[in-house]
Amino acid sequence: MAAKKPNITVIGSGYVGLTTSAIMANCGYTVYALEVNSQRLDIIKQGRSFFYEEGLDNLVGAAVKRGSLIPTDSYEKSIPNSDIIFSCVGTPDNPDGSSNLSYIFAAAEEAAKHIKPGTVYVQKSTVPVGTAEKIKAIFKKYEIKSSYLSNPEFLREGTAIADSIWFDRVVIGAQDSQAIEQVANLYRTVEKSSKNLLKIARIKQPKTLPKSQYIFTNLASAELIKVSANAFLALKISFANSIAKLADQTGSNIKEVMDGIGSDNRIGRAFLNAGRGYGGGCFPKDVSGLIRSAADFGVPMEIMEAATEVNTSMPHYIINKAEQKLGGSFKGKKIAVLGLAFKAGTSDARKSQAIVIANTLVAKGAVVKAYDPKAAEQARREGLSTKITVCDSALGTIKDADSVFFTTDWPEFKKPTLLRQLKKDMLVVDCMNMLDRIFIAKKQLDYVGVGLNGNK
Ligand code: NAD
Ligand code: UGA
Repeated sequence: MAAKKPNITVIGSGYVGLTTSAIMANCGYTVYALEVNSQRLDIIKQGRSFFYEEGLDNLVGAAVKRGSLIPTDSYEKSIPNSDIIFSCVGTPDNPDGSSNLSYIFAAAEEAAKHIKPGTVYVQKSTVPVGTAEKIKAIFKKYEIKSSYLSNPEFLREGTAIADSIWFDRVVIGAQDSQAIEQVANLYRTVEKSSKNLLKIARIKQPKTLPKSQYIFTNLASAELIKVSANAFLALKISFANSIAKLADQTGSNIKEVMDGIGSDNRIGRAFLNAGRGYGGGCFPKDVSGLIRSAADFGVPMEIMEAATEVNTSMPHYIINKAEQKLGGSFKGKKIAVLGLAFKAGTSDARKSQAIVIANTLVAKGAVVKAYDPKAAEQARREGLSTKITVCDSALGTIKDADSVFFTTDWPEFKKPTLLRQLKKDMLVVDCMNMLDRIFIAKKQLDYVGVGLNGNK
């Protein structure tokens, strides 16, 4: 007789939680999506996502309709019926940069009151190394007999569904080998269900698929793998941006330089794209979280302090270059900002460098109009200045502008219909190095890139 499929609760239905719930609920599992934000929950109950991620609405819609995805705010109704619980609540930064673990502990405390013996509790949220011991202490207080696993998430926003179906690695940190197998089996099922998931999500299969690996470690290693992976990627970006500044002074072309460096397979080309720097709900807070948690163990992280400093400098570095080209002042200049999301493919504008750029331009006296295909609403909530007019098309935004800033590399900003409207007397500021240099040269556009404008 086939073993009974485990029931799952996913605590928190944000970018990670809702993606995880929707994938698992379309792989034959019954999944409770446990979410305390009533507005978000209402939208999920209607079979939709409250944020934009390609393919997610299709997966959520199909599973809610089938009844395999059960949105709820009730711990009482979900937790006792579950064999495996994923914790996917947020871990934002505190004002001092450390990780705010209040949601992590609140979710664990609440779950502990309802959990049945033998349940496996899986931490998917990004937490500082050492958190596992604190959660195990909570379970001990409630005399809970359950296994605790660290299973960090590596998906990227904008490609979250593809990343979850075709992953390069699953990391599981734990001691209990039976629990490890139970959780690994969920991912093996996802791999086996890839064709069906692709059909339901209606997304394109990536051109190259990673070869999946299952990596089993101790709890502390799994926790440290996650934060260090994000820190290393942030480091690569800041390294590329530091070299880009030198390229600007020496006439080198940063894309050529990084292609040359990245072709060494010990280094790799990924995450060496210079530009306005990293933002989002993860890199900035995971880097500051690592610095703070290392300090708690008496370990200085100067290297990550430096990466942060470079990242903070990038919007201002680009703005200063543009200001010089505009005769030394932005006062009264009409500026179009294209892109407010922290990256293309998402409605997420958390810690977006595009917002920093737009707000700095306003502070310098410019008249700013901005546009984003998906993130305008969230950008306002994330502090986009009320002095900035948000437009509903890219074409409308650039009309009559003195300068156009490309701040997020949405594919629609590369369309000829838009690019044809760029005029010789407009300063084009390519904060993502995303525009075709041959096109720029042909049109004789006044152009500022990052590490592409040698002074010599
Ligand atoms: P999020 O803020 O989008 O979602 C968290 C959700 O949890 C919210 O909807 C919130 O209302 C809900 N929540 C909070 N406390 C709760 C509780 N006690 N019970 C039930 N629901 C609760 O966060 P996110 O971006 O999905 O990130 C979640 C975690 O995953 C973070 O640690 C993050 O660092 C990590 N992570 C995020 C990504 C990403 O791309 N966003 C990728 C990998 C890892
Ligand atoms: C990142 C990681 O890539 C994921 O593996 C991880 O799971 C996630 O953080 C997380 O822990 O939350 P994400 O933040 O969604 O994913 O997006 P990325 O594609 O990593 O981009 C992050 C930022 O870096 C964006 O602002 C992007 O524009 C910028 N970036 C990226 C660069 O400036 N240069 C690059 O070469 C690459």
